[in-house]
Amino acid sequence: MTLENCPQVLIDRKEIEVAVQRLANEITRDYKDKHPLIIVMLKGSFIFAADLIRRLDFPLEIEFLRLSSYGEKKESSGSVNIVQGLHVPIKDRHVLILEDIIDTGHTISFLMNYLGKMRSASLKLCALSDKPSRRQVPITIDYLGFTVPNKFIVGYGIDWDEKYRYLPDICVIE
Ligand code: PRP
Repeated sequence: MTLENCPQVLIDRKEIEVAVQRLANEITRDYKDKHPLIIVMLKGSFIFAADLIRRLDFPLEIEFLRLSSYGEKKESSGSVNIVQGLHVPIKDRHVLILEDIIDTGHTISFLMNYLGKMRSASLKLCALSDKPSRRQVPITIDYLGFTVPNKFIVGYGIDWDEKYRYLPDICVIE
């Protein structure tokens, strides 16, 4: 990776805005009377979550969870670590997870197993983007923004080695 590898826009901010509103409409339809607990996956989902949650005009609570599997590599290691765990019980709560990207599926598979033992009333996944060509474990995505090609995606919260999260569009780097 060199500075010459300039990120190219794949999905621009207007398209993102339209998709986030669509997701907000779907989530409002399904959760407006359920007082859900929304779990935001750090760090990558922070911008997506901030934009989406401001469009949800009904009672909800927000928690943050941080897992890590990539480190400085572009490839998932397959071994997922809990960096910051949950501090509230989810038993009998309607839980909705917000993720920025589903790639191999290892991270969300680990999380679903972890949370799946906690007897929530329901457990669903909303992902901004999905890269199905890379999947190694099957994942059900209940609410999806975009399907993306098998390229390295950065921007709108998503990093490469902690860089590029600040980009307002979803971009690709070679
Ligand atoms: C990224 C991304 C997802 C995960 C997807 O997180 O935010 O959580 O990888 O990859 P997978 O489907 O192959 O498991 P990362 O571990 O890079 O942490 P970050 O959110 O702090 O960037």
